[in-house]
Amino acid sequence: MLTREENELLTRVGRGTPCGELLRRYWHPVAAAGELTEQTPIRPVKILGEELVVYRDKQGKYGLVGEHCPHRLASLAYGRVDEEGIRCPYHGWKFDRTGKCLEQPAEPAGSTFKERIKHVAYPVEPLGGLIFAYLGPEPRPLLPRWDVLVWENGRRWIVKDSIIDCNWLQPMENSVDPAHLFWLHGDTAHLARRVKKYAERHEFIVFEFGINKRRTSLPVGTGEASLTDEHPLLFPTTLRHVAPYEDGRGHRHNLQIRVPIDDTHTQVFRANFVPSDIEKSPADAPVPFRYSQLKKGSRDYDLRMVSAQDSMAWETQGPVTDRTQERLGVEDEGIIILRKLLKEQIENVQNGRDPIGMIRDPAKNRIIELNVINERIGLYRPASLTQDRAIAS
Ligand code: FES
Ligand SMILES: [Fe+2]
Repeated sequence: MLTREENELLTRVGRGTPCGELLRRYWHPVAAAGELTEQTPIRPVKILGEELVVYRDKQGKYGLVGEHCPHRLASLAYGRVDEEGIRCPYHGWKFDRTGKCLEQPAEPAGSTFKERIKHVAYPVEPLGGLIFAYLGPEPRPLLPRWDVLVWENGRRWIVKDSIIDCNWLQPMENSVDPAHLFWLHGDTAHLARRVKKYAERHEFIVFEFGINKRRTSLPVGTGEASLTDEHPLLFPTTLRHVAPYEDGRGHRHNLQIRVPIDDTHTQVFRANFVPSDIEKSPADAPVPFRYSQLKKGSRDYDLRMVSAQDSMAWETQGPVTDRTQERLGVEDEGIIILRKLLKEQIENVQNGRDPIGMIRDPAKNRIIELNVINERIGLYRPASLTQDRAIAS
């Protein structure tokens, strides 16, 4: 149980709020690269409470600028792009990706007015089929090269879910809540066959990028062995895990990134990678993208889908769940550890220190392979695709 003040501290994402300032120290995806095409090169996006537009210019470079034009606040989402940047649809002011105003067509020739205009702009970097943005102070950390985004020997694709109507911390608490797998997802076809009875032990180990969660399924009959399932929460907004693929014939490695849109809405992006000796996903190849609709209307969830089961649980906890009312038990140890870690990182930022997980050395960022084991589906050691099968650097 938290006090009202603690609940506010750990959940609010706006600029100037303690948690909002912490979240701005990390890179967040704002779009799938596959969403920005020649036909639709501009998309409005809201992230951490800020209204922005992400675009791909005619050179193929990405930019992220404030949605509302600094002239008279019309939306740049309806603007046009050229080789240099983005132009407002209303009176044609043009901006580059640093927020510099390049043109003000209706101002007199020789006017220096445009030199006094600096539009909101943030750095963006594409990786693994996602466009990541950094909204924090300089010097910015490196964009982490998580294995799923960088591996080349196999097939990668991106899924963007319909927007989740709740605060970002609810999905993240779910990522350190291993007991829910059996109860919330246990009737789902591919899981139901494997798990007969609830008998589990859970451990949570804080490491340099977040919290490693280890679930041990204990034997419930004679002749059965205990099975380990271990994977990390990558602080602050990502779950890295592995699921069976094609009826258990393969492994689908997965990053689920829960991007805070504002205090009560969250956008989930999922990057998937299935290792394969035949298919290749070179770093510069387009990454297929699809959209996933989790519900048709309010409370009308497609509960055959694991992701819809999760979003049902998160949304029904409330827009920002009232943690003054909850009753945590022994099984909620992971949630308590996550909240403590989050509070410590907020304090680190407030005291002028780096929070956990900042990568500043490129040598440590060539590829970050994570500790993912799932003995229930036949993955017995962390998957390394770089030891025996080289990737291009
Ligand atoms: S409102 Fe954008 S140019 Fe006038
Ligand atoms: Fe779940």
